[in-house]
Amino acid sequence: MKQIRSSFTVAVALAVVLLGVGVSRSIVFAQDKTVWSGIFTAEQAARGKDKAIAECASCHGMTLKGDLAPALIGADFIDHWYDARLIELTLRVSNTMPQSAPGSLKQEEYADIIAYMLFENGFPAGSETLKLMPEEPLNAIKITKTK
Ligand code: HEC
Repeated sequence: MKQIRSSFTVAVALAVVLLGVGVSRSIVFAQDKTVWSGIFTAEQAARGKDKAIAECASCHGMTLKGDLAPALIGADFIDHWYDARLIELTLRVSNTMPQSAPGSLKQEEYADIIAYMLFENGFPAGSETLKLMPEEPLNAIKITKTK
């Protein structure tokens, strides 16, 4: 009898541990959304390319790899932004760029341009359209170098 009870106790303890592992893993996953999670669509990035050429290329270069202003595509840019939250980048762009007319584009146009920048920096397109509002989801997305 004692034997049976203690193996039951072990089984319950094991179940509790496994449940705990499951719960904490899903919490980690929820916090772990990154620029690798497919946070913009390919169509959006394509629209953003045209807009970026029109609005950003005069300073950042035709391929956005830097000219009068720093590169928005490439290792230097990622070195500057990795570990930041996506919200920091979207606010930087939508509040201060184009430097000649800060805040002059529509929110969707900024979102398209940022989608293009992310795509050209090697992050994958997915099925979600990137939106600048509400801000909270952007705060949960991390810019990371690797998946
Ligand atoms: C009139 C010139 C000009 C235009 C047009 C312009 N920028 Fe900039 N941008 C700059 C300059 C100069 C800097 C660096 C100085 C500063 O930080 O403000 C900069 C900095 C940036 C940075 C920060 C780069 C980093 O790694 O810290 C981002 C992001 C950016 N621009 C995005 C854009 C986007 C997107 C557009 C188009 C919507 C745009 N810029 C249009 C001049 C411009």
